[in-house]
Formats: sequence, C-alpha cells, structure tokens
Amino acid sequence: MVFFVFLHMMRVFYHGAYKPPREFNWVVGVVLLFLTIGLSFSGYLLPWDQIAYWAITIGTNMANYLPVFNTPTNRLILGGIEVGQNTLLRFYVAHVILFPLITAVFLAVHFWRIRKDGGISGPL
Ligand code: HEM
Repeated sequence: MVFFVFLHMMRVFYHGAYKPPREFNWVVGVVLLFLTIGLSFSGYLLPWDQIAYWAITIGTNMANYLPVFNTPTNRLILGGIEVGQNTLLRFYVAHVILFPLITAVFLAVHFWRIRKDGGISGPL
C-alpha cells in the first residue's frame, strides 16, 4: 500500500495535479500518505516477534529526539517505558480502529474533492 500510494503521488505530481484547483486535495493526499505510513508502522508490531519488537523499539525511540514533547510522546506511544503488552494493545487498536477510521474520513474528502475539482486531470 505504501508503494502504491507513492506511485499515485508520483503520477499526480507528473501531471501537475497538485496545482490549483487541486492544491487542497494534494494536502488531503499528504495526510493520507502519513496515515498510510501510520498503518504500516502500527501493523509492524502485530506479528509480535523479534523483528517486530526491535523495529518498534528503534522506531519509538526516535520520538525521544523530538524537540519539546520527546519523552511524553515516547511514553504515549509505548504505553509504558518499553515495548510491552500495553504497546501491543495500543498498536492493535491504532491499526484496526483508529487509523482506518481517520483514513476513511480523509478518503471521503479526497474523493469528494476529485468530483468538485472536475474529475482527474491526467490524460484519459
Ligand atoms: C490512501 C492513499 C490514497 C488513495 C486511496 C488515493 C486515491 C485517489 C484516487 C482513486 C484518485 C482518482 C484517480 C487518480 O487520480 O488516480 C485520486 C486523485 C488524486 N489524489 Fe489521491 N489517493 C491517496 C493518496 C494521495 C496522496 C499521497 C496524494 C499527494 C500527496 C494525493 C493527491 C491526489 C490528487 C491531487 C488527486 C487529483 C488528481 C487529478 O486530478 O489528476 N492522493 N486519489
């Protein structure tokens, strides 16, 4: 999904479809890109094996390098001081409920904007 969203973004860029009147839909698309990455990241822990455990340990440690809310952000994501049962539960809920619901809302806006902007811009 990450790969195809990236391909889609390249297609849109190639056709200059980020220009007016579609600039708002580009911004909605950027949100969808981050949501897709969020889905990918949250899903990575769910196999609950060594690769998942250490990948999420590294990924969540990056939050410690944020400018201001570094440690609180890390604790919020982990649900504790290290990857554990709370983290698994948080990632599961984020993966199957939170991100899909938010993505559905932004997809609805994305498709609504395509119609409002007069369909897609590329050659068809
Ligand atoms: C979950 C991710 C996404 C889905 C499912 C999705 C879906 C779609 C679909 C079905 C279309 C109409 C057909 C097409 O243009 O290929 C479209 C158009 C568009 N998308 Fe996305 N999109 C996503 C992410 C993005 C991203 C990451 C961007 C840019 C940052 C973006 C920007 C646009 C724009 C500007 C259009 C209008 C294109 C035009 O008028 O030619 N979308 N999107």
